Amino acid sequence: MSFHKNHWLLFSVIFFGYIALSWIAAIGPAIWVQDHTRALPGAEPMTPIERRGLQVYISEGCIACHTQQVRPLKMDAVWGRPSAPGDYADVKPLDVWHPYAPAVLGSERTGPDLSSIGARQPSETWQYLHLYNPRAVSPDSIMPAFPWLFEVVAKPAADAVVIPVPPTYAPPSGTVVAGDNAKALVAYLLSLEQVPLQMSGAPAQSASATAGDDGATLYSNHCASCHQANGQGLAGVFPPLAGDPVVAADDPTRHIATVLHGSQGRVINGMTYPAAMPAFADQLTDIQIAAIIAHERSSWGNQASTVTAKDVAAVRKGGAK
Ligand code: HEC
Ligand code: HEC
Repeated sequence: MSFHKNHWLLFSVIFFGYIALSWIAAIGPAIWVQDHTRALPGAEPMTPIERRGLQVYISEGCIACHTQQVRPLKMDAVWGRPSAPGDYADVKPLDVWHPYAPAVLGSERTGPDLSSIGARQPSETWQYLHLYNPRAVSPDSIMPAFPWLFEVVAKPAADAVVIPVPPTYAPPSGTVVAGDNAKALVAYLLSLEQVPLQMSGAPAQSASATAGDDGATLYSNHCASCHQANGQGLAGVFPPLAGDPVVAADDPTRHIATVLHGSQGRVINGMTYPAAMPAFADQLTDIQIAAIIAHERSSWGNQASTVTAKDVAAVRKGGAK
């Protein structure tokens, strides 16, 4: 056979061999996976506004710094359980002009993994402020600001989403309101929540279960994004815990109930706050809540008696609000 002398034969074998191997090793399996992956039981399909948010997420280049894939590694456990193919079943082509499912997995983690950001930071107000200027809520953040997702208006419309930007970061005049892209992006971010895998024998694992029971660490993971590491809160948005009467009270019941069930619209030291405090009953154990509260009650100049897991269990059982 003159295989090595026949140019066309040689070229064709290499060319079609390459195509066949690509199909067998890459394209075929990719199509098979895309067609055979079903959403996990309990997963909610994306709403139209969340899907628009996904488009904003892609066009703003968030993927340059954020992943949405939790690897089965110990160092990834803080972001949740390892990702499964079903987690991405709803990430479908955006429209006819984007025929392939957009890439959301990412490979750079300059910022945290976002697979479960909707569970970790469910506060809309926080998400808006953070996008408007990350430094407003996270003083040392190196994430770029996305002010073009917002508008500054003289007089916000009745149905506008007004962003309570602290004075240091607010524009010299006018009110900051969320634009359509910001609303869509925040809806998308809040929808990012891992559904539990129902595998028999798999140990239940949550981010907080791996974080230990150290009050200072738990505070920094769950509370400092709003009340800040120094307990001073954020002027007009999140109340300070340093010197707060509920934190310093002899009877910790109200404090425990606030952490378990969240709170909104309360008058605190003569102020009302536009944001809501999320509930932590499902995320933190009694031991962890007791550790956090004990930490608050003994930090930033606060000096109140300590709190035990028993106290927390009693309030949890009583359903006191
Ligand atoms: C240049 C890198 C970079 C880009 C681009 C970027 N981020 Fe970030 N992001 C970070 C860093 C660093 C942090 C951690 C500090 C902080 O909280 O601001 C962060 C934090 C976050 C958090 C809070 C995560 C948590 O666990 O508390 C969210 C939500 C977020 N980014 C969303 C976005 C979205 C949405 C975009 C696109 C519009 C984006 N980021 C673009 C670097 C980036
Ligand atoms: C998303 C932002 C956010 C996070 C995270 C957050 N809080 Fe709050 N917290 C608030 C807001 C807003 C209020 C005011 C609630 C109101 O207006 O009723 C508040 C109120 C409180 C109060 C009541 C103060 C008072 O005098 O009534 C306590 C105590 C408190 N938070 C503790 C915590 C602890 C402990 C954590 C962490 C486990 C935490 N917060 C996490 C936003 C947050």
